[in-house]
Amino acid sequence: MRPPPPQETPILSADDPAALDRAADLLAHGGCVALPTETVYGLAADASSGEAVAGIYEAKGRPRFNPLIAHVDTLERAQTLIELPDLALDLARAFWPGPLTLVARRKRDAPVSDLAAAGLETLAVRLPASRALQALVDRLDRPLAAPSANPSGQVSPTRADHVKAGLNGRIHLILDGGACPVGVESTIVSFIDSDGPALLRPGGLARSALEAITGPLAAPQAQSANPAAPGQLESHYAPRAALRLNATAANHGESYLAFGAHEKIEAVDYFNLSASGDLAEAAANLFSALRMLDTPDARIAVAPIPEVGLGEAINDRLRRAAAR
Ligand code: TXA
Ligand code: MG
Repeated sequence: MRPPPPQETPILSADDPAALDRAADLLAHGGCVALPTETVYGLAADASSGEAVAGIYEAKGRPRFNPLIAHVDTLERAQTLIELPDLALDLARAFWPGPLTLVARRKRDAPVSDLAAAGLETLAVRLPASRALQALVDRLDRPLAAPSANPSGQVSPTRADHVKAGLNGRIHLILDGGACPVGVESTIVSFIDSDGPALLRPGGLARSALEAITGPLAAPQAQSANPAAPGQLESHYAPRAALRLNATAANHGESYLAFGAHEKIEAVDYFNLSASGDLAEAAANLFSALRMLDTPDARIAVAPIPEVGLGEAINDRLRRAAAR
């Protein structure tokens, strides 16, 4: 039933109604469609179909089956998938649509294949600020499973051409919605521990915004009884380049990834994540900058990034990239 992907994956505008028709038809037949969200591009398939979800793993070349996020169009649909405690509902009402994923107990009759949930009794759900994705979920009347649209082990895509560079010929269609405004993956908060909510992954929604509603969030390690974010254990992104963090200058032979205003720096290659020291701008530029500087044999010195606001997510991704 699932059509084989074309040799050359087309890129169509996410604003084009005919492109959405085509995407809906492909998804209804078990295909994989890359589409923009405010965080990163996702590789979407019908979450209720094991065969469709298997296509995601095949296209990404993922060695193991990690649980995937089920994406929805409304809070009501989210509530058909998971049991949201009151505090989780407060977060959903405050921040959806947005860069926030909620993990909670999965409902028995949730239309999500065991493969998408990796057999867990919990499920990660997100309502992204993506008109294309919301429209497709509405038309299919089913959630869409969507990891980031990159081959396993590579950096997440924030533009349609990043998706094409990694997955051309392996997926059915790419919807182009321009550059992702947030630029790092969603913040994941889990509600499965009796101790209260835990921050499983720092991301595009700052901890301080969440904690204003929840109070202090537990660290994922506190959930030792539950290996809750399986995907978090792996080196998420393995660049070819060697990264040196918290560097205030480039050594001989190094490129420099800067942040904020500074004296002139001599380097092989240079990119400033945000000359004005704006962490949201830096997050939006992070993955593009890493792609640009990450050539074989490159060595990249990275400026210190303050561990506040979106800096927590930026530093998390940089540490993962440096630890290989
Ligand atoms: O911004 C995002 O979240 C993007 C866009 C496309 O929505 N998606 C994304 O998906 O980053 P992915 O598959 O690259 O990362 C999902 C993370 C993984 O670390 C996975 O382990 C975790 O979510 N996860 C999924 N289901 C879970 C569950 N039931 N319990 C704990 N962690 C879960
Ligand atoms: Mg990913």
